[in-house]
Amino acid sequence: MTIADLVTRGIRGLVAYHVPRPDGIRAKLDANELPYGLPAEAAAALGRELAEVALNRYPESDPVELRAVVADELGVAPGSLVFGNGSDELIALLCAAFAEPRTGRSRASVLYPDPTFVVYRIAALGHGLDPVEIPLDDEMELDFELVDDALTGAAPNLAFFALPNNPTGTLWPPEQVAALAARHPDTLFVSDEAYIQYGGRTLVPRLAELPNLVVMRTMSKIGMASLRIGFLTAAPAIVRELEKLRMPYNLGSLNQRAAVWLLRHQRAWLMDRCRELLAERERLAVALRGFPELKVFPSEANLLLIRVGRGGDGRAAATWKALAARGVMVRNFDRPGPLAGCLRITPGTPAENDLLLAELPAALAAS
Ligand SMILES: Cc1ncc(COP(=O)(O)O)c(C=O)c1O
Repeated sequence: MTIADLVTRGIRGLVAYHVPRPDGIRAKLDANELPYGLPAEAAAALGRELAEVALNRYPESDPVELRAVVADELGVAPGSLVFGNGSDELIALLCAAFAEPRTGRSRASVLYPDPTFVVYRIAALGHGLDPVEIPLDDEMELDFELVDDALTGAAPNLAFFALPNNPTGTLWPPEQVAALAARHPDTLFVSDEAYIQYGGRTLVPRLAELPNLVVMRTMSKIGMASLRIGFLTAAPAIVRELEKLRMPYNLGSLNQRAAVWLLRHQRAWLMDRCRELLAERERLAVALRGFPELKVFPSEANLLLIRVGRGGDGRAAATWKALAARGVMVRNFDRPGPLAGCLRITPGTPAENDLLLAELPAALAAS
């Protein structure tokens, strides 16, 4: 018996999440962030607000002000919200809380389409749950009959659906997810609406009739990625269990105060920037479709998934490297499997997107 033998079995085969940081990057298009920094005047006002925070005190354990602002915005009861240090933490909390194997089975399982947001898999394995992965088709669309069969066969405790999906950008019909939630009331369905500002349709109105539905959101994609604030809304029976496991001070005071201030004073500005980004996504998609060696998947999120050449020929990884050397950072997904040959591009400011389009021909030629 060694220390290595003590590691949870599912974690042994995992590789730590790694974010490359090459020097000289002039266009950061790799992380599905909003590319715009706050105007100087707003940043200064926020600075004055944050100067009032008592750094010697623990944060509010219950982020009451934030809770009130978000509840108002979503049109839900303040008590129906759970806040996480990013929705990453909420995904982990869900996997930790709803991990009881069903009668007659040795382990619980978590269902999600594949490829999708990598944290579902990390959180499932980290908490000793078995992943049930439903392959997407070649167009990154989801076969709901396949999902239905898997739900019946595997009876997972949890099912995650990113609506729209990352890293593909595709939006599978949320109504079909709701229909499955109604057909499988013993599975907890999570509608992960991280990208709702860029497409998608919320399932919030379905919460009242679906006690097994959780709607999850994040502030990360609308200009507040550094704050690490995610939240979910669900029925009291779900919220109660998650609150038992949520660590008491999981949201820092500066982060809480900044989020409340931004939502109160800069919401319109942030939403305008999101709309601007949508226009940039469309401009970029049209331009990228002009390259014969690229396939551009349709997207309803602040990202564009492209396939370079034929998957497996190594061109995507070489293009990624050549772009990084030219100061343009995109996300490399080129590895064997359904994302072979794929890169993910987060639309940036018009100038960043122009730089990408200017450097891409040479990067492709170098691949
Ligand atoms: C689908 C999806 N859900 C959740 C998250 C995590 O967001 P957060 O920054 O709130 O942890 C991401 C981040 O990329 C995402 O793509």
